[in-house]
Amino acid sequence: RGRSVVSPSGDHLLRRSFTSAAPLPERKVAILGAAGGIGQPLSLLMKLNPLVSKLALYDIAGTPGVAADVSHINTRAEVAGYMTEDQIGEALEGSDVVIIPAGVPRKPGMTRDDLFNINAGIVKNLCTFIAKYCPNALVNMISNPVNSTVPIASEVFKKAGTYDEKKLFGVTTLDVVRARTFYAGKAKVPVADVNVPVVGGHAGITILPLFSQATSASNVSLSADEITALTKRTQDGGTEVVEAKAGKGSATLSMAYAGALFADACLKGLNGVPDVVECTFVQSSVTELPFFASKVRLGKNGVEEVLGLGSLSDFEKQGLESLKPELKSSIEKGIKFAKEN
Ligand code: NAD
Ligand code: LMR
Repeated sequence: RGRSVVSPSGDHLLRRSFTSAAPLPERKVAILGAAGGIGQPLSLLMKLNPLVSKLALYDIAGTPGVAADVSHINTRAEVAGYMTEDQIGEALEGSDVVIIPAGVPRKPGMTRDDLFNINAGIVKNLCTFIAKYCPNALVNMISNPVNSTVPIASEVFKKAGTYDEKKLFGVTTLDVVRARTFYAGKAKVPVADVNVPVVGGHAGITILPLFSQATSASNVSLSADEITALTKRTQDGGTEVVEAKAGKGSATLSMAYAGALFADACLKGLNGVPDVVECTFVQSSVTELPFFASKVRLGKNGVEEVLGLGSLSDFEKQGLESLKPELKSSIEKGIKFAKEN
């Protein structure tokens, strides 16, 4: 018997085309902050992913409604909602991937670091539960400031004795999504043909898109001014959305899309699909900084290989040097917080 793959439309042709393949493994995904602006569309997208067999939705408020709603969709994943901390153990137990979009978003005029005071404590608390209930899960950190929340998570896991650097990821996929979209628009090439690595971190100038390595760069000639403008737009992409939402939060829909892409890549890696490569913020020796976003090959244990930067243009080399002090201090701030609290 072939595996039962049900597309969102219940497409019989899709099901038949997979009949000779091995059955898909059972995979549980937990979303912490599932009732929020990102959490809701992310819950929807993970419910549509045929690699997911169980979907645990946790939030401090509103999860019963979100879980009931999403659970009616006729796809593979069994959905359950959990609320309040006495249910978080059940939400996390057996998880292969935990996605964390819990925490407050920016308002106009704020930096991501302005969220530190509230979100650092939320992330630290949630990671304590992860260490207790699913220490082997891959953790996809979305909560800002990612440059600090990932180091916080690493310290919590170290204290608990469960840290595995291959299993902790800061989600920077939205930077790649933006770089691809903005580059394709400017170069007037089909966006599907474009990929752009984005390295460094996830805030302002720490976001460094490598447009010299864009997959269609050889056929495209953009001026230095155009590359500078594209770089700035990618770095300020989050702020563009925060300002457009005018006080009603930050990117949620594009982030849910990006978070679903990254979680799908993690699941594919766990399932043994070869050559799954995504940019993500991980423990790293690519530079002298202890955490850094770059291309990473994902596999059955999480990070299989952290890939190097490749050759950089002079503009990118300059950007790399300029971002290091800010990224270093955000990483240190996270580590200090976790050690002292
Ligand atoms: P939101 O306020 O709409 O939702 C956050 C959710 O987290 C709420 O439902 C809230 O109840 C929940 N929450 C708060 N404390 C919690 C806890 N202790 N346990 C579980 N859930 C808890 O915010 P949002 O727009 O969804 O953004 C969430 C976070 O994601 C923000 O920090 C934002 O800056 C960040 N973000 C990151 C990226 C990225 O690229 N990494 C992109 C967009 C937003
Ligand atoms: C983004 O890049 O959209 C997120 O980090 C949210 C924000 O505050 O900009």
